[in-house]
Formats: sequence, structure tokens, C-alpha cells
Amino acid sequence: MTTQSREFDVLVIGSGAAGMTLALKLSQNFSVAILSKDEPNEGSTYYAQGGVAAVLDEYDSMASHIEDTLDAGAGLCHEDAVQFTVQHSPEIINWLVELGVNFDTEIDAKGDSQFHLTQEGGHSHRRVIHAADATGKEIALTLYDQLITYPNVTFFKQYVAVDLITEHKVGHKGNRCIGAYVLNLESGEVELFRAHYVILATGGASKVYLYTSNPDTASGDGIAMAWRAGCRVGNLEFNQFHPTCLYHPDAKSFLISEALRGEGAKLLLPDGSEFMQRFDERTELSPRDIVARAIDHEMKRLGCDCVYLDISHKDPDFITSHFPNIHARCLELGIDITTSPIPIVPAAHYTCGGIVTDMNGQTDIPNLYAIGESSFTGLHGANRMASNSLLECMVFGSAAAAHISAKGNPEKFNVPIPDWDESQVTDSDEEVIISHNWDELRRFMWDYVGIVRTDKRLQRARRRVMLLNQEVAEYYSNYHISSDLLELRNLMTVADLIIQSAIRRKESRGLHFTLDYPDLQDTASDTILVPPNFG
Ligand code: FAD
Ligand code: SIN
Repeated sequence: MTTQSREFDVLVIGSGAAGMTLALKLSQNFSVAILSKDEPNEGSTYYAQGGVAAVLDEYDSMASHIEDTLDAGAGLCHEDAVQFTVQHSPEIINWLVELGVNFDTEIDAKGDSQFHLTQEGGHSHRRVIHAADATGKEIALTLYDQLITYPNVTFFKQYVAVDLITEHKVGHKGNRCIGAYVLNLESGEVELFRAHYVILATGGASKVYLYTSNPDTASGDGIAMAWRAGCRVGNLEFNQFHPTCLYHPDAKSFLISEALRGEGAKLLLPDGSEFMQRFDERTELSPRDIVARAIDHEMKRLGCDCVYLDISHKDPDFITSHFPNIHARCLELGIDITTSPIPIVPAAHYTCGGIVTDMNGQTDIPNLYAIGESSFTGLHGANRMASNSLLECMVFGSAAAAHISAKGNPEKFNVPIPDWDESQVTDSDEEVIISHNWDELRRFMWDYVGIVRTDKRLQRARRRVMLLNQEVAEYYSNYHISSDLLELRNLMTVADLIIQSAIRRKESRGLHFTLDYPDLQDTASDTILVPPNFG
């Protein structure tokens, strides 16, 4: 059977804040296909709570936002990326407001309406603009509503990109990225998407861990696809664990925003005592790596299943107006946050490393871009500061769009691309391999490659991932693909890259903490992995 073939100027793989920003900026002059594995808004963006960091207050400054980001990043941020991102923050917020994003406002002392800015860990000023505690939803819905008005833009939902196509891969001269093979979940067929420009905006890989704040889409697909295609990846050992995810048997992946701590919530041990002052003078508003490690330390020391976050000393009206969704969700589960502390644990939240890009989002492969959480721009260093991520998605989504606009549509290419070949595969009779390996991977990543690492644990994880990788590769070449199999294959690849990166770092820095090398090395350097087919 012939593979269904489609052609666009731009193929955007992922419809979160990064992908939709880029698509919107190109929607007038380019034909754009935008893919999502699930519904268009099912991704981390939709679930973002706290807000977007931006310099908007007259007493704040670019210098201060830059300094805080560098400080949280523990010496590993690329200063050019930090400056670039922070300097574009007011412009991005203005753009969102013009599109119709409804950020929270308050009346100031002079009686004027101002944006309400909240505070989060690592920020020395109030600079997080937000829409109550559901900022991501407000941004995602606004971008989506705008995008669907453009006839040049076509959404493909439930379309899972399988692998990138480069000229080299299909036997031609040159190494441009010219499209992707994509699984249509409804028909079960793999389709061919040709494009002049391909954008990876697939989000992070936190699903590699057993406990995560992320939705199911976060399986590192873009990072794995880019690696297989020949792109370098950077700093993948820096997996951010959010300190405060709800601990409740019926609450899968529910985050309790850092903004609660910004508004005065306290972390408490089961006996009701405060503990953060023993770890850092910034207490509850220390950068995330410090808070998550402190909680992990106390939970292990006391042998308890969780600690608590308490905001009940604040006025109930303040709590319900600032955190309506968190209040409602906790209430559904029997926890009234206006009167009781909230049981919380750390969980995998953000992938600080990713596909190496330049300041335009351009990867190592011509015409292939990576933006948002899948990318490694150098902004986050060894630990992302809260609410810098949505900002990065939109700043680099815009930068990549500007770069593509300036290049324009290159000459038409008519490179023959082979159909997807299914002649050698059959239906699987052992789906259990997928579910078993999936569980095993996520559990050993949690146990051996988590908040506190050792050489021994990392080597143990490495041996396991090599074995599982072999099994999954064999399975992949013998059976028809499914969405679960694709995700598992990608998670295996990314887990392997995370472990390799962690093994290489012989120091403790930011989110990478190892008992074998507890100190910082004098020189901060990135961990860059180079694929065998690079260049
Ligand atoms: P996502 O929004 O994750 O979107 C990824 C897209 O890629 C999805 O559409 C998905 O379907 C698609 N996709 C993935 N793989 C494939 C494939 N193979 N084929 C086709 N499509 C694919 N950051 C902040 O700055 N402020 C916050 O307040 C904040 N709060 C957060 C709260 C939560 C609960 C979480 C999980 C994260 C939060 N973050 C926050 C982080 C931030 O939300 C994410 O880093 C950011 O939204 C990532 O956006 P993205 O566009 O890169 O990817
Ligand atoms: C939160 O609201 O705590 C999440 C903020 C972020 O991840 O940047």
C-alpha cells in the first residue's frame, strides 16, 4: 500500500506554548501543519499553574531577573541565552495580552489597575504574571483560538511523529531535514509529511520517572528523534523535581504551585515543625533543587511518606481567589487548604537539558529546529528558575519563526522519499513486553537516577537500560508500531542519555547531586553527547 503523503512549508511537531507560538508567527506567509499526539491542548503547557516570569514592575530590572536566573542555574547558564530571554520578556507579555490572554490584575495604591505579580523560588522580586493558578490553560486556549482562524494552519490531532527524515537518511546528498514519518492513530497508518522546515516542539521527558507532575505526552519523543537523526543533546542529567506535588492515592500528577510558597505557605514536617531554615536562608523560596533535596532528605531521615505545605494561616478569600483550581481539586479529595496543610512530595517536573540549538532554535541539522522544553538553549543551566519555561517557549518560538521568515521558502525539493515499510513486521503477540518494560524503566529511573545519585546507582541503571533497550529495539523491528511502543522506545533512548550524562558529571551541581562527588568543580561545563551519526 502507498503511504499517504502530505506537503507543507512548515511541519511543527507539538502544539504546546512553543509550537503554537511559532505556528502563529508564521501563519500568514507559510503553510503550517501542527501535530499533537493527543488533543491539541494536552501537554504541559495546558497544566502550567504559577505563571510567566517577566520584568514588568517598575522596581524590578532586567539585571535582577538575569542575576536570579544565573544564580538558580548554579553557574551553568549561558549568559547570552539568559539575556536574550529576559530582555524579550515584556514584549512577549504584550503580545499575549494583545492576543487576548487574560492575566490577573489588582488595584494599586494610586487606584490604578496593574497586573498582579506573584513570586516563586529563586526570584528576588515579584515578577510572575499569571491567570489565577491556571496560567497555562489561559495561554494555551488563547493561542489555539487564534491559530484555528488561519486557513494556512492545519491541526493534526492524534498524529504521532515516529522519526525525522533527512536527505542523508533517504540516500541523497546533503543533510537537510525534509519531513517526518507520522503515525495516524485513528487509521493506524504511517503517513509521510514533507516540509521545508521541521520544528520539534514536543516538550520534556519527565515521564521517564515513576512519579511526575507532567501529562502523559512528556515522553521525550523530540529529543529521541533528534538524537536518532544525528543531533547533539546537552545537559540531560539535570532533571528538575518539583518540590510540591500532591500526595494522595487518587491524585495522579497534581501540582501544588510554587506560587503558594510565594504567597507565604510554609513547608512542615509531620509533627508541624518548619524545616527549610536548616537548609537555606531563603527558606521556602530557595531555588527548586534546594527545596526538593531538603524534602527528600527529611522524608528519608524520618521515614515518612510525605511532608506538608500549609497556607491555612492566610485569609480564606485570598486563598480561594488566588488558587481556585488547587483549592477545588484538593477539596474534591477531602483536603480543605483554607484550614488544613496539604500532603506533598517531590516529583519529576522539567527537563532542563535537551536538543542543542543556537539562539534561533536551529539544531545541528539544517532546517530542523527545536524549541520549548525539548530544546537545550543554555537558559536554565543546572536548574531552571520557576516560570522561566513558558517564557523560553515563547521567546524561542518567536526567534525560530523570525529566522524561518528571514530565510523564506527555499526552492521546491522533489527528493524521492521511500514509503514507510511494513513488509517485515507482524502483529505483536506479546504486548506485555511494552507494559512491563515501561514500568521497570520508570521505577529504576526513580530509584537510581533521582534526586540523590551515586556512581553505583547510575551504573546499575545503565546496565538495566542497555538490556531493556535491546529488547525494545528487537520488538520495534519485528512488530507493527503503536503509540505505546513509540513512547517506550523514546523513553528508553532518553533514559539512556540521561544516565550517560549523569555518569559523566563528576561533581554535584544544581539538580545533579551525587554522594560520590558532593562538591562543585572549579569550572562549570556542559555535558554534550554526540550521536554516532553526527555531522
Ligand atoms: P508541551 O506544552 O508539553 O507540548 C508538547 C506537545 O508536543 C504536545 O502537543 C504533544 O502532544 C506534542 N508531542 C509530543 N511528542 C509528539 C510526537 N511524537 N508527535 C506529535 N506530537 C508530539 N512553566 C512555567 O514557566 N510556569 C509555570 O507556571 C509552569 N507550571 C507548570 C505546571 C505543570 C503541572 C507542569 C507539568 C509544567 C509547568 N511548567 C511551568 C513547565 C511548562 O509548562 C513546560 O515546560 C512548557 O509548557 C513546555 O511547553 P512545550 O511547548 O515545550 O511542550
Ligand atoms: C508552579 O506553578 O509551581 C510551576 C512553575 C514552574 O514550573 O515554572
